[in-house]
Amino acid sequence: MLIEPLHEEFGARISGVDLSLPLDVQTFAEVDAAINRYSMLLFENQAMYDAAQLDFTCRFGQLEEEHVTYYGQGKIVYIGLVGNIDATGEKVAARQINSARGNEMWHSDSSFREIPAMYSILAAYEVPEEGGETEFASARAAWQRLDESTREQIQDLVGIHDYIYSRTKISEDAVNDSQRTFMHPVRQRLVRQNPVTGDKNLFVGSHVKEIEGMPESKARQLIKRLIDEVTRPQSVYRHRWRIGDVVIWDNRCLLHRGCGYDAEKYRRRMHQTRVRGWCPSIAEAFDTA
Ligand code: OGA
Ligand code: MN
Repeated sequence: MLIEPLHEEFGARISGVDLSLPLDVQTFAEVDAAINRYSMLLFENQAMYDAAQLDFTCRFGQLEEEHVTYYGQGKIVYIGLVGNIDATGEKVAARQINSARGNEMWHSDSSFREIPAMYSILAAYEVPEEGGETEFASARAAWQRLDESTREQIQDLVGIHDYIYSRTKISEDAVNDSQRTFMHPVRQRLVRQNPVTGDKNLFVGSHVKEIEGMPESKARQLIKRLIDEVTRPQSVYRHRWRIGDVVIWDNRCLLHRGCGYDAEKYRRRMHQTRVRGWCPSIAEAFDTA
């Protein structure tokens, strides 16, 4: 297995691993160590299919159900369809593409759930000829850049993450009644720590609506400042997808966003699975900080 860094702050290309076959214990241990260290791993030219993706995902922990279908229709599915193609292979309606526009804001997957996603895995089957990249940035590297007084000021703060808030920024009808009923704001520590490496990081993104105990305008300023710090241009890795790419990333400490593409002109079909975090991040931060 060969590991080549993709960006000086995070990310690595892994070669010599075939994800269509179950990984042996040793190889899996190396991949597991690499994701904790690099936060994002790219595997190219993979002959991926859903069963293999689910199998690979399960090696890291429990599957997280895809939340749009779960909260929107009460159905549990584990493969999320990302892009503009439905399960039958047809292009989806413009409205659904619109609701996916939320992915174009910097975010950490399902930070709006009490137990947020640990890892997301995206496999590319069809990619647009232009656009449709995904950008990543490290909230761990950003923490390391912060000055001591800012670190002290934010160390114990709690962010309120709210899916309804982030989606209705795009449009009021981006969420349905069921989502409004079942998706409540949740509290997440603003500073998290990786339990394996001990590294600290910011935990911000588009779902953060408020900071507990802070006036709204001051909170919005702070959230923006921290997101800007994480995503300053020289710290962003932009992934240009190729068919057969599989990327796994660590939502505990990376932000990501989609770059948009011409959904009328091009097809984009990616399958996403997620690993559930192993305990609420509030408890995790308190236990290890
Ligand atoms: C995701 C996501 C962005 C993209 O799959 O979680 O945010 O580029 N995707 O599709
Ligand atoms: Mn996402």
